[in-house]
Amino acid sequence: MIKAIDNRRSIRKYTSEEIPQEIIEEMIYAATLAPSAKNRQPWKFIVFKGAAKDELVQVMRQGIENEKETHALMPEWAFAIPDAENTVRVMDEAPCLIVVLNTNGKTPFAAIDNEKRIVEICDSLSIGAAIENMILAATEHDLGTLWIANTCFAYNDIVEYLNTEDQLIGIVAVGHSAEAPAKRPRKRMTRIVEYRE
Ligand SMILES: Cc1cc2nc3c(=O)[nH]c(=O)nc-3n(C[C@H](O)[C@H](O)[C@H](O)COP(=O)(O)O)c2cc1C
Repeated sequence: MIKAIDNRRSIRKYTSEEIPQEIIEEMIYAATLAPSAKNRQPWKFIVFKGAAKDELVQVMRQGIENEKETHALMPEWAFAIPDAENTVRVMDEAPCLIVVLNTNGKTPFAAIDNEKRIVEICDSLSIGAAIENMILAATEHDLGTLWIANTCFAYNDIVEYLNTEDQLIGIVAVGHSAEAPAKRPRKRMTRIVEYRE
């Protein structure tokens, strides 16, 4: 078993200590080593620190406020808004946020045909593999990370702020952990695996 796979946890409490630039670069290099459908490498990363990071957090906070009033994006997921607000608190605490974009994708809030959906699924899977590599590289340096998809509640505000045509996949928070959570429960093997011979 690769140690980082076993040791990784979602971290929701951070110290304010900065992350060395070499580690951020190593995380992104690790991301680029992920497999990708047709080797499209449909990813882009924007690293936010300092005042720019505070601005991004404020944009997400405001976007969630807007969603709370309008329920324009995720009307059936209103129950999850408190969780998204907690994610903003985590983002505020983390010293570094890495925005992850799909350079081959468009807004998920518009319908697409089946073929485009299959391509989008493949690109999302490729980017998921890249994110996991990035997170494991950080874990290897004893850093904490949080994979964040609650950006969806503030989707339009965030892409407008980023001034991008790309699809926003999510954000990875990274920092020195200020908590050491136990392993979260997993489904039993017998529930998830089936052998056929
Ligand atoms: C695609 C994806 C999106 C996630 N989005 C969030 C999020 O927005 N906020 C959050 O607090 N956790 C988020 N998580 C973390 C999960 O809640 C966490 O991985 C899960 O509860 C298992 O805990 P563990 O990572 O410590 O094993 C996300 C994880 C994944 C893979």
